[in-house]
Amino acid sequence: MQTLKEAVEAAWEKKIALGHFNLSDSNQFNAVLAAAAAASMPVLVGVSEGERKFFGVRNVAALVRAAREAGIQVYLNADHTYSLDACKEVIDAGFDSVIFDGSHLPMEENIATTRAVVEYARSKSNGGHEILVEGEIGRIGTSSKLLDAPPEDMDKNLTDPEEAARFVRESGVDMLAPAVGTMHGRLVGGGEPKIDLARIEAIRSAVGIPLVLHGGSGSSDTDLATVGKLGCSIVHINTDIRVAYRKGIEASLAADAKEIAPYKFLAEGVAGVEQMTEKYIRLFAGV
Ligand code: G3H
Ligand code: ZN
Repeated sequence: MQTLKEAVEAAWEKKIALGHFNLSDSNQFNAVLAAAAAASMPVLVGVSEGERKFFGVRNVAALVRAAREAGIQVYLNADHTYSLDACKEVIDAGFDSVIFDGSHLPMEENIATTRAVVEYARSKSNGGHEILVEGEIGRIGTSSKLLDAPPEDMDKNLTDPEEAARFVRESGVDMLAPAVGTMHGRLVGGGEPKIDLARIEAIRSAVGIPLVLHGGSGSSDTDLATVGKLGCSIVHINTDIRVAYRKGIEASLAADAKEIAPYKFLAEGVAGVEQMTEKYIRLFAGV
């Protein structure tokens, strides 16, 4: 089976993006696996610091390992991780990749800590298991939730291609998450963030490594179908998965308020996650 590095390189060459979906529990994990199987595509699952505290770092790592042993091409990413120690914990637990998110730090500090994560990941990698490190610069907001307004100063903090090139050169990251107009979360009142497609292309040619688009929920399908061609080899979706899960569970409980069997009242939420995930996997890969 391909390593994550090989899967990302293959996506880069085919000019498509792989889907990355955040989860908090094993029900969502099963839904994502079912969607990936239906679309016959590799898939990434991601857990942020909060999500993995709830799920359990070793629990999610064990599930992914078991799925891989069963031949399923699924990779595990430690999403937005804010300290070197937390990065070391997931690397030691067998994750395939980690994002050190130092986007709120001064550039020098962001580069230095990202560099330290890269060195640690390299020291723990071997031929069969190479841990990828993603760095982040620019502002895309912090939480995958329903928002009344876009995060402050977002459009003033888009990633500059030259700064991105320096960050990549000096930190040694494998992948970069730039700020290109998307945001974490989705506007309650609707309204699509405008993805700066020209900026993606400029950053891609300045850095020469795969880009990762964060904040996918809420963007237009047309933009999301295009970003793979421009150099984004992974696209992250979280808010839409959360909404689909909750809406399905709410509908079940509204239909039968006395239902107490989790496998019954959760099923519609799981089905919602599966449908949403499959839609995005197909959109990013054009399949
Ligand atoms: O890392 C997670 C993502 O960037 C999710 O963004 O909640 O807007 O889909 P989203
Ligand atoms: Zn993100």
